[in-house]
Amino acid sequence: MSMGIKARKRAPAHVPPERLYDFDLFGDPMPFGGAHKMNHDLIGKAPDLFYTLRDGGHWMVTRRKLIEEVMAQPNTFSSHAASPHFDTVIGRIKTPPQDMDPPEHMAHRLLLMKFLGPKHIRALEGRIRRLMVELIDAVLADGGCDFVAAVAVPFPVKTFMSMMQWDLSRYADFAGWAQGIIHSGSPMRSLPYFIRMRWFLKSWIRDRQRNPGDDPVSLLLASEVGGKKLTPALVLDMANLLFLGGLDTVTIGLSFITLHLAQHPELQQRLRDNPGDIPAAIDELLRRYAFVSVPRRVDQDVTLDGVLLKKGDYIVCSLPDASNDEEALGTSAEVDIDRRNAPSLIAFNTGPHSCAGAALARLELRIFLEEWLSRVPPFRLIDNYTPRQVSGALFALKDLKLAWQAD
Ligand code: HEM
Repeated sequence: MSMGIKARKRAPAHVPPERLYDFDLFGDPMPFGGAHKMNHDLIGKAPDLFYTLRDGGHWMVTRRKLIEEVMAQPNTFSSHAASPHFDTVIGRIKTPPQDMDPPEHMAHRLLLMKFLGPKHIRALEGRIRRLMVELIDAVLADGGCDFVAAVAVPFPVKTFMSMMQWDLSRYADFAGWAQGIIHSGSPMRSLPYFIRMRWFLKSWIRDRQRNPGDDPVSLLLASEVGGKKLTPALVLDMANLLFLGGLDTVTIGLSFITLHLAQHPELQQRLRDNPGDIPAAIDELLRRYAFVSVPRRVDQDVTLDGVLLKKGDYIVCSLPDASNDEEALGTSAEVDIDRRNAPSLIAFNTGPHSCAGAALARLELRIFLEEWLSRVPPFRLIDNYTPRQVSGALFALKDLKLAWQAD
């Protein structure tokens, strides 16, 4: 499943033959563990920086120190039109400020902090907690659930709707669009969902122009960069990014964390007994199961790892690998929530584009664990079952069937 992007027949002339390695980021669905293992195995087997002909042909980089080097040069390794789906409709979706480069990037990113900054996020805590309690109450007596469908998908969608001050009664529409855009399997199949979401956002922006409030879209519409107000078209694209970046990522994070706890009853119990350990567990599990690979476009010839990369090349930075790079960790990459002197978390990326929603993501994950562990009895995977995983720019779990002893 390569998202409809053809493989190149041969590598560009500047790619040294010893840097060629056959790797498809968009492999077929596989049992859980497969996508992470496939990527982690690259370290040692493949060169630290290699070129694959798959998916239109691109460089791929796995080591933390090389990814830090890429991220420290945002003008050379551009975020503009950098998607691996660059020649498809979805690849052309604008997502400012994620697809902007310095200097315009930072001025726009700072505007997001008007509602994604830690102080604003803390104000959402009570509402988010109520949403989680409702979701748990809906499944508790059943003695089990497909966690992805019952909790991991609805929680971030409802949280996001609540932050945007959208009517929660339209939840089914939003969840359908979010899933359709991200998981349709091909850019063309995603398009109708994307168009419906854009229609909604457009009408919401028109409404906020007439009736401004204190919601994120109103705040953006009232903002200026360089003395000029943001245009409604730019606000639409920024809202796009929030929709695309803030829903599925949290769904995936919730799923991997819960899967790990279902397989490790001793850690589950430790967190139940010691909720103060939850934040450290969240960061360690996000590290171990880091699931985002980020693309960049080379904007001027540059040498990386001793190899010449040419203007116009694409490069994908594997955060799942960098996050589990034992050379950078200085120790084993296995889960250890008591890890000392760990390098900073790279699952949210590093450098100017590192996740602007990290505070919200961590809050959602913490509230989930606090409420889930205090209400749901010890849980495990159902018998004879391995969840299925998809690879790609986001490694996701398709399902996660849990069981517990109901009263
Ligand atoms: C566990 C959950 C999440 C993970 C692992 C995650 C991961 C990432 C990563 C790796 C990037 C960097 C992309 C790049 O360098 O091109 C990023 C950027 C971003 N994320 Fe997240 N994200 C999560 C949740 C969220 C949430 C909840 C929001 C907000 C609703 C959000 C909003 C953003 C934004 C606005 C950017 C662009 C930042 C910029 O370019 O300056 N993310 N995220």
